[in-house]
Amino acid sequence: KAQEKAELLEINKQAAQYFYYQLRTEKGQTGLDYLKNRGLSEETMRKFGLGYSDRAGGGLYRYLKAKGYPDDRLRESGLFNVDERHGMYDKFWNRVIFPIMDVNNRVIGFGGRVMGDAKPKYLNSPETKIFDKSRNLYGLNIARTTRKKYLILCEGYMDVISMHQAGFTNAVASLGTALTSGHASLLKRYTQEVLLLYDSDEAGIRAALRGIPILREAGVNSRVVSLKPYKDPDEFIRNMGPEAFEQRLEEARDSFLFRVEVAENEFSMNDPQGQNQFFERCAQMLLELKDELERNLYIDAVVKIYRGRYGISSEDLRKRVNTL
Ligand code: CTP
Ligand code: MN
Ligand code: MN
Ligand code: MN
Ligand code: MN
Repeated sequence: KAQEKAELLEINKQAAQYFYYQLRTEKGQTGLDYLKNRGLSEETMRKFGLGYSDRAGGGLYRYLKAKGYPDDRLRESGLFNVDERHGMYDKFWNRVIFPIMDVNNRVIGFGGRVMGDAKPKYLNSPETKIFDKSRNLYGLNIARTTRKKYLILCEGYMDVISMHQAGFTNAVASLGTALTSGHASLLKRYTQEVLLLYDSDEAGIRAALRGIPILREAGVNSRVVSLKPYKDPDEFIRNMGPEAFEQRLEEARDSFLFRVEVAENEFSMNDPQGQNQFFERCAQMLLELKDELERNLYIDAVVKIYRGRYGISSEDLRKRVNTL
């Protein structure tokens, strides 16, 4: 069993070296151009071990077979597809490759991105005996060594890489999966606070809303950063640069107040009925706060935002909470 895991790690390491080398060959020029066009420096590519799988496919299979690995083991690596007609063939094909490392810098899986608009945009290694997606975070192998008072949690490979290149080496991503309690307890080992930098679309907002209580449960505080009008951290940094990005981090919103602001959008705040329903929702959220001091602080904070518009007082809101 341990022997098997060691062999899978060895296969991944060999594969990472293969992809890395391919990026530097003539065929790999397309991949190199793609990554350069996205603003990545040679140093960044090296730091993240980025690679390339060429159009031909089959190269990795031949490479690993030549090293003597049996088909059974190769199948378990998740690097290959198998079907009756074609036998075993490379899963990653005509893509730039992002090796995924665990906190001990061991390659546990891969992501591959198409260089254009084809679908699916990303392919990822399946879960294997050494790759548990709900217990690993992309970039944590580097982020864990930075001494910042918080970690940044974002959606994607390119977000992490762009942030690291811009000096924000405390960024990690949960890869294509929703944040789990496994991720949260992993984060808890390295930090007390997480800044959520999910994409500024509906999916990103929903992902943040789902993530907040999971982090809270693990004892990790969270705040939410708005990247609007940009789509994600990578786009923000490319357009606005590191200083403006740093500014956004400093303006991170308290996660409870973020939830309140999201809820506000669900009601028609132009009529008393909508307003009443919204404050009912606020009261329900406030009721989740079991500590009285904390609850009172948030009652005041909510009232501070809405008093001007709706004439609500802390007493009004407290009474509403107490009737629930
Ligand atoms: N993802 C995935 N499979 C997809 C799409 C996305 O696994 N078909 C994962 C990838 O890890 C990706 C992350 O979800 O990095 C975020 O997805 P998305 O925001 O769509 O992509 P970006 O990271 O912004 O990719 P890019 O900037 O390269 O377009
Ligand atoms: Mn997204
Ligand atoms: Mn992006
Ligand atoms: Mn994105
Ligand atoms: Mn009381």
